[in-house]
Formats: sequence, structure tokens, C-alpha cells
Amino acid sequence: MRSGLFACCLLLFASSALGCKRDLGECNLDGTTPDGREIPGPAAFDIAYRITDGLPMYEGQALVQSTCGDGAFCHAPGARGSDRIGAPAQLDFDLSLACTDETNDATCAQPLQSCEGGQADTPYCVRLRRQHGNRGNIRGWAEVAIQEIRSGTMPPGDAGRNVRNRTPWLRKSDASELPSIDSGDGQEIVRNWLACGSPVVARTETAPSEDLQLEPCTSVDDETCVYSGPLGDLPDPTWSDIYWSIAFTQCVLCHGPSNDNVDQNPNNPLGGDIPGGASADGLAVLDLTGADVNDTSAWAAESWSALINVSASTAGPCAGQGILVIPSDSEGSLMIEKMRGVQSCGGPMPLTGLIAQPLVDIVAEWIDLGAAND
Ligand code: HEC
Repeated sequence: MRSGLFACCLLLFASSALGCKRDLGECNLDGTTPDGREIPGPAAFDIAYRITDGLPMYEGQALVQSTCGDGAFCHAPGARGSDRIGAPAQLDFDLSLACTDETNDATCAQPLQSCEGGQADTPYCVRLRRQHGNRGNIRGWAEVAIQEIRSGTMPPGDAGRNVRNRTPWLRKSDASELPSIDSGDGQEIVRNWLACGSPVVARTETAPSEDLQLEPCTSVDDETCVYSGPLGDLPDPTWSDIYWSIAFTQCVLCHGPSNDNVDQNPNNPLGGDIPGGASADGLAVLDLTGADVNDTSAWAAESWSALINVSASTAGPCAGQGILVIPSDSEGSLMIEKMRGVQSCGGPMPLTGLIAQPLVDIVAEWIDLGAAND
């Protein structure tokens, strides 16, 4: 699998070296012509939001982000060693936001300082620079990228299907699911977005009221800020509810099977897909699956014992430094530390970016209620 991927990346380089470029076509920025007529089809400023936590991005940004790296694999600066699965160093397309709300990240507390005029070393400004740099990368590779995506060589084959983050995104326009990058509609969204110079949402804040959800928030400098969208349905503080709404959709990608798979479980919340294969290191330290690799029906109940009173794996950076879940002690549980981004070893979880803290509060509540296998 890995060599196939490597070949694809070489192909990507080869086609650019040969100057094999194709016109990106017209740019439809906001759905209207200068004289106010409506342009059909996707617009680069169309917004989508992640179903689990309302995180906003432009639709093209969301498709590229969730399929090409999502901060943790392949074309992401955070991806190291085997998790890069062949994507060349520096070829990073990580377009994740420079700031989410301050409950997720204290360095995002208001007022945020300007990044112009010598204030460039705050965590926010460092992340903003990373986003600008990666946007520059994707703009430089735009013609090649759309060609690769259309011909199906990027994301690359089975491996490319495996590693993507499958958490659904919804479109602001009608709350329908954002089409996949494999579909004609998804490719048209990416093409148009690339043709418009790959604009990015740089930052989000929690919407102060429902009618402001996904509306613009105040910019610092001239980056784009968009208020977060609605949170998905919150799970009950039971392991089965938490498993299906958080662990299976956000964690099994890395803490699951070494390959993406098709599920026999009719109640699979990801439409029959079993995510997997995004991180060999993640799977080595924690396996959140069950015995039957082709049927996830029992995975919630069976994965529970991988967490409860289990010491951090000797295979990872947290060896000897904590217990994953300590019943009735959420604050002392390494899993909660990582889900709040306050861990003393390894990275925050998910590595792809923290999920909304109201969701983590529910996981903490389940632990404080005794962390039953319920
Ligand atoms: C993109 C890949 C990725 C995703 C998604 C991810 N993890 Fe991880 N996880 C890792 C890797 C790699 C490690 C080992 C390095 C470390 O501890 O940072 C790890 C380590 C952990 C550990 C420590 C295990 C040990 O024994 O040391 C816990 C707990 C954990 N993850 C929980 C989660 C939870 C909960 C989620 C979902 C909310 C999640 N992870 C999502 C990659 C991921």
C-alpha cells in the first residue's frame, strides 16, 4: 500500500515537472455577477460546517482539509514518519483554522492581537502563518491538484480512501451533506475554489446567538472569521452513545483497523464505512475496535476494556505516565487530559484538532458517573 502511495506522489511531481497543467476554469466567488445576477453552481465563499461541532470552513477548504491531511496525516505538517504515508516533506496542505473558540484553546481568548507590526510570535499568529504558507502551497499546485483529484490518483487509491477524516460536513445553504471529493459535485466545488485562489476561513468564535451561527465575526487584520455553526445532537453520558457519536467517528480512524473496511452493522453511523488506517502509531497504543473486523455491532461494548483502568501503552510517549480512564475521576484520566489539550505527554486528541468541549464534558460526566459499560 505504501509503495503505491509513494508512486502517486512521484506522479504528482512528474506531472508538474512536465508542465502538464490544465485550465482551472472560471471562478465563481460568491454566487453573483458584479451586476447582481445569480451564478449557478458552487461558490468559493459557500460555507460548510462539521456535523459534530459546527466548525466552519469554506466548502473547498473543508474537502481538501478532510481528505488530504486534516492536521495529522499525509499532507499535514503534524504528520511524521509512517503517518505521512509517502507525502513528500514540505508538501503540506494543512488549512485548519488558526483559532477555534477560547474554551478549546486559551490562546484564542479575546482580544486577539494583530499579527502585523511585530506581534508575530503569538500561538495564533504562528498558526495563521502556517495556514497562509499551506494555502500558498495549494495555490502553487492548484492545476496539478485538480487534475490528480479528477483522475482519481489523489487522494491515492485505497490508502487515500482509508486515511481521510469521514466526519460529515453539512452545507450552510441547506444543511445537506457536503459531497465527497470523489464525486463530480465534490470535484466541481474544489475546482471552483482553486480557481478563485483557495480562500480560507482563518478563525472561528462561538456564535453568541443562533441567528449569528455561520455569519461573519469581527476580523483581526483582514483574515476571515466565521461564527461556529450548530452543534450536532449531544450524546447521553453512556459509553455506547459516546462510542457511536465520538469514538467511532473521531478516533477509530487512527485507533482502529489498519484498513478502511465495509461494515455489516446496519446501524453504522458512517453509512456502512469503517474508518481506519490513518495512523499505525495510534493503533499501536490504543485499539478501540472489537473482535469482528467486518461487523461493528459489538465494538462499543468490546472496546470499553481497552480504556478502563488501563495504563498508557509502553509503545507510546505516555508510557508510565497515566491511566487512560479512571472510573469516577475524569480529571485524573489521561484520555480527558488529551481531549482537553492539557496532557503532559504526547499530543492532544484527536490529533486532528480538539472536538467541541461540550462533547468532552459529556465524556467526563460518563467517567465521573463510574464509566460503566452501558
Ligand atoms: C489522526 C490520528 C489520531 C486520531 C484521530 C486520534 N488519535 Fe489518539 N493517538 C494518536 C497517536 C499517534 C497516539 C500516540 C501518541 C500520543 O500519545 O500523542 C495517540 C494516543 C492516544 C491516547 C494515549 C494512549 C496511550 O496508551 O498512550 C489516547 C487516550 C488517545 N489517543 C485517545 C484518542 C481519542 C479519545 C480520540 C478521539 C476523540 C483520538 N485519540 C483520536 C493518533 C490519533
